[in-house]
This record gives sequence, C-alpha cells and structure tokens, in this order.
Amino acid sequence: MNIYQPTFENIKFAADKIKKGELAAFPTETVYGLGANGLDPEAVAKIFEAKKRPSFNPLILHVSSLHQLENIAEIPNKLVNQLIKKFWPGPLTLVLPKKNFVPDIVTSGHPTVAVRMPNNEIALKLIELSEVPIAAPSANKFTRLSPTTAEHVANQLGSKVSIILDGGKCSVGVESTIIAFIEDEFVLLRPGGLPVNQIENVVGKIKIKSVSDNPIAPGMLPFHYAPKVKIKFLNDVNQSDLLNKKVGGLFFSENKSSIKFDVVKILSTKRDYIEAASNLFSMLHEFELEDLDLILVERVPEENLGIAIMDRLTKAVNKYS
Ligand code: TXA
Ligand code: MG
Repeated sequence: MNIYQPTFENIKFAADKIKKGELAAFPTETVYGLGANGLDPEAVAKIFEAKKRPSFNPLILHVSSLHQLENIAEIPNKLVNQLIKKFWPGPLTLVLPKKNFVPDIVTSGHPTVAVRMPNNEIALKLIELSEVPIAAPSANKFTRLSPTTAEHVANQLGSKVSIILDGGKCSVGVESTIIAFIEDEFVLLRPGGLPVNQIENVVGKIKIKSVSDNPIAPGMLPFHYAPKVKIKFLNDVNQSDLLNKKVGGLFFSENKSSIKFDVVKILSTKRDYIEAASNLFSMLHEFELEDLDLILVERVPEENLGIAIMDRLTKAVNKYS
C-alpha cells in the first residue's frame, strides 16, 4: 500500500515526486486531491489518464501563497480580494482570468483558471515544498464517488499514484464552492463546502448558473459523484423497487420510514449540516461495501451546506434514473 503518514520527510518525498512530473494524492479539507505539477503539461496529462477523465474538463490549481496566485491569475475586481482575504485558505475556488504561462491542458483552453488555497496543513506544506501550483481534481475515477479518506483513494487509484499522503478523514467532506467572475458578475458554478450565503454577505447577490446552460464547470454535468449501487430518493420509491432487494437507507437526522432496511446510516443526528456534509461521501463509500441492490436517500433541506449535499445527491440519483 502506498499510503504514507504526513511526516515532513514524507511530504518532502511527495513534493519531489510532483517536481519530477509524477502524481501524488494528498488530503485537503474538502476531499482528497490527485496532484501534479500544474505548470507541466505532461504531468497534468497523467491526471486525466489516471482518472479516465474527458480532457475537456478543466482543473483547479492549488496555491499556498498569494504570491503564487499572482503568477497565474489576474484579480479583476476588489471584491475578489475581499473573498480571498475572508475565505482563504478554505473551500472556495475562484475562476479568474488566467496568465499566459498556465498550460492549456489545465484550463481546457479556457481563458480562465480555477484557483484555490486549501485549508489543510499537509496540502499547504506539499504545495510550498513543490514550489509550483498543484493541479488537482478529486482523487476518484471519473463520475465515481469523491474520496474523503486515504483508503478511498487507494481503492480507486492506488496503482496510479506514486504516493498517497494520509491526512485522515476530510473535515468538510464535499468539494469546494466554485465562483466565477464573468462579465462583471459573480456566478456560482458549483455549490460546495462554503455556503453561498456567506459569499453573498461579501459580494451581494450571486447569479446561479443552471445545469441546462453550457456546462462550463463539468462538475455541473447532471450526473456525477455516483456510488456503484443504484441510488434513489426515498420519497420517489415504489413498492416494486423493494421486492427481494437488499436496501440501504441514508437519512439526514433520523429514520422515520416504515421500510425495512438492511443497513441504515444517519448523516447527522444533531441536524448539523457541517457534520452531515463531512459524512456524505464516506457513508456512500461504506454502502458500496455492503453488497446492496439499492440505496434510498432522504432529501435534505436545501439551506446552508444542504444545498451542496443535495447537489451531490441529485447527481448521483440522476445517474440511475
Ligand atoms: O474541493 C475541491 O475543489 C477538490 C479539491 C481536491 O480541491 N477539487 C475538485 O476538483 O473538486 P474537480 O476537478 O473534481 O472539480 C473541479 C471543477 C470541475 O467541475 C471543473 O469543470 C471546474 O472545477 N473548473 C475548473 N477550471 C474551470 C474554469 N476555468 N472554468 C470553469 N470551471 C472550471
Ligand atoms: Mg471531482
């Protein structure tokens, strides 16, 4: 197993791999990332190969300092600076005009680049020691569940990466919120670990890009993030779905259903959105190991981080409908 404890030596070892153009997986506060030197097109190409990801899907560059940010992107507006000051390091990705030497393979030829500073000491140290911005998508295979532990990464991509740094379970558990600044407006491209209302407190009302529009963030594809087991919303279930089936139930805070489940998991008995988001992918991963025919999931109120949770669940359900 190529899972390594995050000692200084091991982080340095991973940074040397990145410098040499190899892949290293690392923890962030949202999900684990599959990292490569973001300025080396050949290294970045290895990410697409490992994930089996269509190459039209652009990547996020992860930085550890504002100096690094200035080298790769323009800051088009004062409010962008305020967002950075308030929410970085943290689960907020900004899509900004790119500077020339960001390779096209990172941005899929777009004139913009997605950047974030992760709020995780291991990730920040790795980026600092690598001395380059690290391009990193979530360390899962394309359309599969995002990883929130080092073991999840090893199960999906273990043979493809030189090293997986183990930072334990991700504290946030869903991917970053992605905001673009387009034609003088802030636009939400993906709900995520930073609730949109907190961003609106800084920049005012944000436009929400709908999935039917051109999916400029392919995280906006209508299906994504799906477990291997069929998943449906609980209140859409028919009796015939349940006949002779081994069924798992995923609930927000309690199981009030009369259905007889084989396995039940609760995202947060306290109805705490932060706890629920941090459990979402890990519980879906656990269901994958249970040999189920169907997962039924309760809808979560669409407020606060509930918006990101419902976004991920709806995409998983869409894959099977
Ligand atoms: O929390 C996260 O954001 C994690 C961790 C590892 O940082 N990363 C992550 O990366 O979720 P990924 O590749 O799974 O999702 C990145 C999203 C994609 O939907 C991509 O289309 C969008 O960011 N994106 C990247 N660059 C873009 C750009 N220039 N314009 C619009 N969308 C962009
Ligand atoms: Mg992803």
